[in-house]
Amino acid sequence: MEKKDIDWSGLGFGYVKTDKRYVANFKNGAWDEGGLTDDANIVMNECACVLQYAQTCFEGLKAYTTEDGRTVCFRPDLNADRMYNTALRLEMPPFPKDKFVDAVKQVVKANEAWVPPYGSGATLYLRPYLFGINPVIGVKPAEDYQFRIFTTPVGPYFKGGAKPLTLCVSDFDRAAPHGTGHIKAGLNYAMSLHPIVEAHKAGYAENMYLDAATRTKVEETGGANFIFVTKDNKVVTPKSNSILPSITRRSLMYVAKEYLGLEAEEREVYFDEVKDFAECGLCGTAAVISPVGKIVDHGKEICFPSGMDEMGPVTKKLYDTLTGIQMGRLEAPEGWIVEI
Ligand code: PLP
Ligand code: COI
Repeated sequence: MEKKDIDWSGLGFGYVKTDKRYVANFKNGAWDEGGLTDDANIVMNECACVLQYAQTCFEGLKAYTTEDGRTVCFRPDLNADRMYNTALRLEMPPFPKDKFVDAVKQVVKANEAWVPPYGSGATLYLRPYLFGINPVIGVKPAEDYQFRIFTTPVGPYFKGGAKPLTLCVSDFDRAAPHGTGHIKAGLNYAMSLHPIVEAHKAGYAENMYLDAATRTKVEETGGANFIFVTKDNKVVTPKSNSILPSITRRSLMYVAKEYLGLEAEEREVYFDEVKDFAECGLCGTAAVISPVGKIVDHGKEICFPSGMDEMGPVTKKLYDTLTGIQMGRLEAPEGWIVEI
C-alpha cells in the first residue's frame, strides 16, 4: 500500500481530512451495525442535544508505523473503557467496548495510506466521539446518539517539538470535586478555552490547574497529566479524583518501574513541592511527553534544573522507552500493542 504524498515531518497538530471515517447510530434503544463512510460532514437538527446542552464526549489514540513496517495502535481497549465510563456519567448509551476496538481497526485499515511512515516523527491520530443528536429542549439526555471515529495525521502537539515549555498557574479551575474532571467530556474543554486563550496571549504554552477546593494541589493541564522527577530520580505523578486518568501516564508509571527500575509514585502533589523537583513533563496521547522547563505563578518563576534547552535525563529515558514500545523497537507488555 502506497502512502500519501505528504510532508510528514512538517505536520503540526491539526485536522487533515482523510479518506474514511466510522459511524454508528443509536436509535430506538439499540446501536446499529455501524460502518465506514466517505462523508466527513454531519447533518443534524438545530435543536440537537449536543448543540444545546453539550452532550458530547471523545477519546484520543494513535496509530503508528513500526520499525518493521507494521501498523499498530496503542492500548485501544483502555480508550474503550474510558469512553464507556464517560458515557455513563453523561447519561449516554455506552458504545460497546469490543465494537469500539473493532471500529478502531476498521478505520485505521481504511486509512492506512495516511499512517505516517516510521521515523517521520508523525502519527495517525484517531478521534472517537459520541454525542446526543435528536432535538432536546427541556434539559434532559438525548434519545438518539451517534458514535464516530475520524483520523488525521499529526505532528507534535506543542510547536517546537521537544523544546521545554513554559506554563502558568491558572486562576481558573478546570474541574470541581465531584464534577467531571475524571471523564473526557467535551464540556471540560469548552470551559478551558478562555483560560488557554489568556495563557497563550501572555506567552505561556499551557495552564497548570490546581485543585478547585483548596488551590494547594497540582491537578493537570488542559490536555495532559503531569509527571515530575525528584532529585533522587523518583517519578511522581499527581493523584486526584478530578483529573483524567491518562493512559499515557498509567503506561509511563509501569515503564518507570518495570523497564527502567525506577521508583514511581502516584500521590497528591502540593504546589509548594513543585520547586523541589528536578524535572517536569506533560504526558498524554497528543503531548506524548512534553518537557516543562519553567512554571510561572503570578510572576514567581519555578525553573527546573533540567533547563530550557532539552528534556531532563529521566524524562528522556521515559520518552525513549514509551515511544520505543509504540514504534516496535522494544518489546511491549502483553496486550499493549494491537496490530491492524
Ligand atoms: N488530561 C487531559 C485533560 C486530556 O485531555 C488528556 C488527553 O487525552 C490527558 C490528560 C492524557 O490522557 P491520555 O494519555 O489517555 O491521552
Ligand atoms: C489527547 O491527547 O488525545 C487529547 O485528547 C488531548 C487534547 C488536548 C488534544
